[in-house]
Amino acid sequence: MLLSNGILIAFEGIDGTGKTSIISALLKRLTDDGFSVVTFKEPTNETEAGKKIRNSYFDGRASLEEELQWFIDDREWNVKERILPSLAEKKIVLMDRYFFSTACYQGVRMNDDWSGILKTNRLKFPEPDLTIIIDVDPRISQQRIVKDRQKSNTFEELDYQRSVRRLFLEIIKKDPIGIFLLIDGEVPLIEIIDSLYLRIKQFIKEKEIEK
Ligand code: TYD
Repeated sequence: MLLSNGILIAFEGIDGTGKTSIISALLKRLTDDGFSVVTFKEPTNETEAGKKIRNSYFDGRASLEEELQWFIDDREWNVKERILPSLAEKKIVLMDRYFFSTACYQGVRMNDDWSGILKTNRLKFPEPDLTIIIDVDPRISQQRIVKDRQKSNTFEELDYQRSVRRLFLEIIKKDPIGIFLLIDGEVPLIEIIDSLYLRIKQFIKEKEIEK
């Protein structure tokens, strides 16, 4: 089924909210319905910057300047090589994290200046048609994060996750540009998937009518 335009949908939230499972279930259902759907994840595994980010999970956080630059460089590659070509082919693009993650995760390190980070990203990268924020209490998401790791991931500390969540919720209230859907991520996964599936189908339908 070919759409008249590509649709960019970003999934956001703190670590351990179930984004990846939700996206893969939606990818399957929408594909079974005949839509042309792709999903991409940030940070990618494809760029030098993405590798530096992954190393920093365990080796310790880089400076804010370096970290910000790496996420932007990685996204630049992803947008140019994968996101824009898929949108040009009129696909539905489901993003497992996008620039709202930078606004929140790096924003916490910049006196909560999420709006400055959004501004910089919006100069370079396409705005999602819809941003779905999965919200979970960090104490619950922490329990879900696999604990059998050799070393802990420095991005996942509880206080940091609390601050990141606070910024996601603030952005939904105050960012005048984004179109957001706040989802309670504490209900069973199947309920989240069922309800998002219906809402996304409705969203696609409305987009097609307004084209
Ligand atoms: P995550 O989705 O958890 O990837 P993986 O499962 O491969 O580890 O993302 C990795 C971490 O990177 C996560 O803690 C959020 C963080 N992050 C940022 O700090 N800024 C960003 O711009 C993005 C995209 C992610």
